[in-house]
Amino acid sequence: MPTHATASTAPADVLGRPLRDLRISLTDRCNFRCTYCMPRHLFGSAHEFLPRREILSFEEIERLTRLFAQLGVRKLRLTGGEPLLRRDIETLIARLAAIPGIEDIALTTNGALLDRDRARALADAGVTRITVSLDAIDDATFRRINDVGFPVDRVLAAIDNARAAGLTPVKVNAVVQRGLNDDQIVPLAGHFRGSGCIPRFIEYMDVGTSNGWRFEDVVPAREIVERIGERWPLLPLPANYPGETANRWRYADGAGEIGVIASVTQPFCGGCTRARLSAEGKLFTCLFGGHGHDLRQLLRDGADDDAVAETLAGIWGRRRDRYSEERTAESAARRGKAEMSYIGG
Ligand code: GTP
Ligand code: 5AD
Ligand code: SF4
Ligand code: SF4
Repeated sequence: MPTHATASTAPADVLGRPLRDLRISLTDRCNFRCTYCMPRHLFGSAHEFLPRREILSFEEIERLTRLFAQLGVRKLRLTGGEPLLRRDIETLIARLAAIPGIEDIALTTNGALLDRDRARALADAGVTRITVSLDAIDDATFRRINDVGFPVDRVLAAIDNARAAGLTPVKVNAVVQRGLNDDQIVPLAGHFRGSGCIPRFIEYMDVGTSNGWRFEDVVPAREIVERIGERWPLLPLPANYPGETANRWRYADGAGEIGVIASVTQPFCGGCTRARLSAEGKLFTCLFGGHGHDLRQLLRDGADDDAVAETLAGIWGRRRDRYSEERTAESAARRGKAEMSYIGG
């Protein structure tokens, strides 16, 4: 018998969606300044990141994750900012991997710090999968987007390191913006064809308020699939799990698969089982949430496990978020929303 009690599983939310995934942001810092995420004029030397005491400790993250697992969470995704900037996360990961009920621990990274040893250490600690962000295969375009002059080659090396460590299949995330890197769609697809890596093309989203998002900048997933399919015919694949972010396609000639994440033009809120924990311990029930529930305060005030679990179940039970389905031009512009580098995507 598993040690986690199913009797305490959280109720489904108001729209009938169970709690299954927890995305944990380990830090709000990043060593890149991607223009659509942490633009320099807002995330320069004057920007104040969270001080250490305000960030959840490993003990606090472990405790919350254990309670989330008791409530039904099976899958974790570690994000940031850039999660590999947080010291010694292997220690945390080993503790998370030992929690009964946790079946999958994935990590989303920009790859800058993913050398061979680090990839192996992450795998040894219990990471099951890695997703690397890479918005262009053309070096000049990529450097312009990350805005710290980071070269493509080093991200490709990181992807190889993840593969060598068995963290497969490696997914490669490209956020597509019209006029900026939409000329990279076919080259990126071509680069990863036949490699076993899964490139995923993401519609540029109106996360936060600082990226100056405009609907005209979005390249619809349908267009992305058409552009790749014209070159190499594609066939649809079924979802890996209910509520998957990506629509999956495979090459008709057997050279692998791609994904498109169409959160703007084909929202997937109906199957959204994801909760998000910010680095400072705020719980968001939607990527586009303006308000997070302060779990850190609860923990530091001495709440016992039952009280914390009850709070988590209550928050989930009251959840009715479906922002992407409700998005209008006005709400995209006006609503107060957490920044991507803070909430972790
Ligand atoms: P898999 O577990 O491999 O399916 O990963 P994932 O797609 O859930 O996670 P990843 O961190 O790779 O995110 C890919 C893209 O999907 C990013 O742009 C995320 O911001 C976006 N994304 C992830 N979850 C959600 C969600 O619940 N809502 C919306 N709108 N976008 C999401
Ligand atoms: N729209 C879509 N995806 C985004 N990401 C960051 N900002 C945005 C945005 N505005 C992606 C990152 C990373 C993932 C967690 O989210 O590139 O791959
Ligand atoms: Fe950093 Fe990722 Fe944001 Fe780029 S998209 S600034 S790599 S957190
Ligand atoms: Fe889930 Fe909110 Fe994304 Fe919809 S917009 S899929 S509710 S996180």
